[in-house]
Amino acid sequence: MKNIVLKLEKEHFLRDEEFRLLLEDESEETLMLLAERADKVRRKVYGTDIYLRGLIEFTNYCKNDCYYCGIRRSNSDAERYRLTDEQIYDCCKIGYELGFRTFVLQGGEDGCFTDDKLVEIIKTIRQNYPDCALTLSIGEKSYESYKRYFDAGADRYLLRHETANSIHYGKLHPKNLLLENRKKCLYNLKEIGYQVGCGFMVGSPFQTTKSIIDDLKFIRDLNPHMVGIGPFIPHKNTPFKAYEQGSLDLTLKLLSVIRLMLPNVLLPSTTALGTIHPLGREKGVLAGANVVMPNLSPRNVRKKYLLYDNKICTGDEAAECIVCMKNRMKSIGYKVVVNRGDYKEINGE
Ligand code: 5AD
Ligand code: FES
Repeated sequence: MKNIVLKLEKEHFLRDEEFRLLLEDESEETLMLLAERADKVRRKVYGTDIYLRGLIEFTNYCKNDCYYCGIRRSNSDAERYRLTDEQIYDCCKIGYELGFRTFVLQGGEDGCFTDDKLVEIIKTIRQNYPDCALTLSIGEKSYESYKRYFDAGADRYLLRHETANSIHYGKLHPKNLLLENRKKCLYNLKEIGYQVGCGFMVGSPFQTTKSIIDDLKFIRDLNPHMVGIGPFIPHKNTPFKAYEQGSLDLTLKLLSVIRLMLPNVLLPSTTALGTIHPLGREKGVLAGANVVMPNLSPRNVRKKYLLYDNKICTGDEAAECIVCMKNRMKSIGYKVVVNRGDYKEINGE
């Protein structure tokens, strides 16, 4: 297996059979070797700096009905909320004082936030925080809408592709949602000039080694600036409530594989990873991740933005999370830094 790992590090991709061997090898040794190589590669580009993203979950209304997601339209148990513009700006203010230089506006696909409204919010944040990056994570929109947000001052966009296998995509989503459209959105975002993030859940129902290899191929082709991956975790009010959660080791392995494929990629150690293991986020960083995304949403709405069960940090203030995160990163020899945390083009060599 060592040869395969070294080949991946050197050539940044593998043949299908090699990927299959690597992904299906469950030995501790392979996992550790991958993490060691990925950590080395990440250190070359980003050192031990860990970038912060302040997540503002501004609406949990969603017109979609993805089978895995706790805020899907059909979940009538979800208590719905929308933050006011003022509440959003307050989150930014608190976040800025705490050292955040990237704000991520994330929400369900909520028609109430029209393009005009979003443009107004984006312009205001851009004006008040010229030194910050502004990321959107609000789902599938038209080219024109994406362009308007970009022109208003948004500079990054997260849209996980969820799975790059269209049959698998069809098993995770209702018929009206298509992989083709999702991919088109990602390419549109790139064309417009955003720093783009795609990604997928590890261990989602019906995922196979083949579909993961499709994900890796798609990631290679798109060549995104960011890749968000985390374990699937069932939510009690969804059709997938009885499915098993994704595995910690496979998530860690894929973080390392993606780091070796794209040495410069921005790779978050996700909240979902921290949810399935108390030291999940630390392990993610040690496996090659270099971004953490603490929650900046007001405390009173946090328990309502539940994409999956048992989500961590829903009872904590932003200030508590940031102290906790700094300590967690320090404990493993990494450092949370105060800057925008942009993608580095150089290879560090
Ligand atoms: N478990 C883990 N991740 C989930 N997401 C949505 N539902 C779940 C779940 N049950 C992820 C999706 C989405 C991102 C915002 O959260 O990948 O793109
Ligand atoms: Fe939120 Fe630790 S990061 S409590």
